[in-house]
Amino acid sequence: MFERIREDVRSVLDRDPAARNTFEVLTNYPGLHALLLHRFAHPLWCRDWKWLARVISTFSRWFTGIEIHPGATIGRRFFIDHGMGVVIGETSEIGDDVTLYQGVTLGGTSLDGGKRHPTLGNGVVVGAGAKVLGPFTVGEGAKIGSNAVAVKEVPPGATVVGVPGRIVRRQSPVGEEHQAMAEKIGFDAYAITKEMPDPTVHAINAMLEHIQVVDSRFEALCCALKDKGIDCGDISLPELNAEDFAVMAEEDTPDNVKAS
Ligand SMILES: CC(C)(COP(=O)(O)OP(=O)(O)OC[C@H]1O[C@@H](n2cnc3c(N)ncnc32)[C@H](O)[C@@H]1OP(=O)(O)O)[C@@H](O)C(=O)NCCC(=O)NCCS
Repeated sequence: MFERIREDVRSVLDRDPAARNTFEVLTNYPGLHALLLHRFAHPLWCRDWKWLARVISTFSRWFTGIEIHPGATIGRRFFIDHGMGVVIGETSEIGDDVTLYQGVTLGGTSLDGGKRHPTLGNGVVVGAGAKVLGPFTVGEGAKIGSNAVAVKEVPPGATVVGVPGRIVRRQSPVGEEHQAMAEKIGFDAYAITKEMPDPTVHAINAMLEHIQVVDSRFEALCCALKDKGIDCGDISLPELNAEDFAVMAEEDTPDNVKAS
C-alpha cells in the first residue's frame, strides 16, 4: 500500500511543476486525497458493501470537490490536477499514467444500465473542463483539449479539440518508408490527417510518394547494372539476387505504381 502511495506522490511531483516536495503533495493535493479515498471505496463496492462505498465517495466529494464513483476502475499513477468539479462515472475505466485537470467529466449519455462511461487508455491527458461522454475508448497517449466535448472513439496518440470534439492531430498514418523519406527532405509528416485538407501538405505528400517509387526503381536499375558488371560509382546498394529483382519488377508494374 505504501509503495502505491509513494508512486502516486511521485506522479504528482513528475507532472506538476508547482509541486515542491512529498509533504506538500500529501497535504495539499485534493486529487491525491480523492484517489486515496477511492482506493478504499472501490474494493468495498466490488465486495457489495455498496452503501459504505458511496458514503466514502460522498465524503471525498465534500472534502475535495472531486466525485469519483466507487465503481470506477482506475489504474496506477493517476493524477487529477486541481480537481474541483471532476466527475468520474460508475463504469469509467482509466488506464495507467492518466492525467485529468479540473472540471473534467467522464460521463454517460444514456440512462440504460451497463457500460455507459468512457475507457481511457494509458497515458491519456484530459484538459480542464473537457467532457468525455459515452462508452467509447480514448486510445493510449491521446489528448483531449481543455473544454472539448469528446463523443466518439479517439485513436491512440490523437489530439481532440472543440465542441463536438474533432481530431486535429493524430500519429502519422504514413508508412515507415514514407516517414523516412519525409525526414530525409526535412518535411514533418507527423500531422498529416484526413481532417487537415491543406493543399500544400497534400502536394508534398504526393511528391513524397512519387519520390519513393522513383527511388525504388532507381535502386532496382542500379542493382541490375551492377549484376551485369557495370560500375554505378559509390552508391551503396543492397545485396539482391535474381528472385529479388523479380519481386521488384512485379511491385513496379504500372498498375501498382498508379495505385500507390
Ligand atoms: C489540446 C492540447 C493537449 C493540445 O496540445 P498539443 O498537442 O501540443 O497541440 P497544439 O498546442 O499544437 O494545438 C494543436 C491545434 O489545436 C488548437 N488547440 C489547442 N488546444 C485547444 C483547445 N483546448 N481548444 C481548441 N483548440 C485548441 C491549437 O490552436 C492548434 O491549432 P492550429 O494547428 O490551427 O494552430 C492542449 O492545448 C490542451 O488543451 N491541454 C490541456 C491543458 C490544461 O487543461 N491545462 C490546465 C492547467 S490548470
